[in-house]
Amino acid sequence: MRVLKDLFAKNRAWAENIRNSRPDFFSRLAAQQSPQYFWIGCSDSRVPANQIVDLLPGEIFVHRNIANVVVHTDLNCLSVLQYAVEVLRVKHIIVCGHYGCGGVAAAMENREHGLIDNWLRHIKDVYRLHRAEIDLLPKDQRADRLCELNVVEQVANVCHTTIVQNAWNKGRELAVHGWIYRVDNGILKDLEVCVTGVDQIAAIHQVR
Ligand code: CO
Repeated sequence: MRVLKDLFAKNRAWAENIRNSRPDFFSRLAAQQSPQYFWIGCSDSRVPANQIVDLLPGEIFVHRNIANVVVHTDLNCLSVLQYAVEVLRVKHIIVCGHYGCGGVAAAMENREHGLIDNWLRHIKDVYRLHRAEIDLLPKDQRADRLCELNVVEQVANVCHTTIVQNAWNKGRELAVHGWIYRVDNGILKDLEVCVTGVDQIAAIHQVR
């Protein structure tokens, strides 16, 4: 119980496997990381960033939380975002949600879940913003649509940060994407809400 031998055995085999195909892989990686992509996704164990897009260590910078939410005052998420944009100088920020998200489903309920209700309330805000559209849908489609709309709103939240807008104002090439992943078939879908400049966001949020 105190030593997870299986995981250490798996780790040794994994590292050896990579070394066998690329002997200098880890030594090169130790020297520097230069990922092009920053992934903001759900903590759900079925939605692992690297595996879904088949990228190796060093190729994608990752932040994950319950229901891939970007909260204006979340110092954790904002710090990772700042590092990604200002230090790593990523070219793409990907907000990736997934259908069947437990966090989104919980946000649609009226019962108490404890501490996490404070987090889920941000998703309730998304529901409230889009209630007219969601409530027109058959009941069994509402949660999946909220999963999509939650991604769209979090893309907007990323764009509203001064971190992203400062990069754009300096002429940096930076695209913010909204994607959604289907757990039951492993396929990603582009929600086609890509934002690449200050002029594409709501006027009230623009920083010039
Ligand atoms: Co989820």
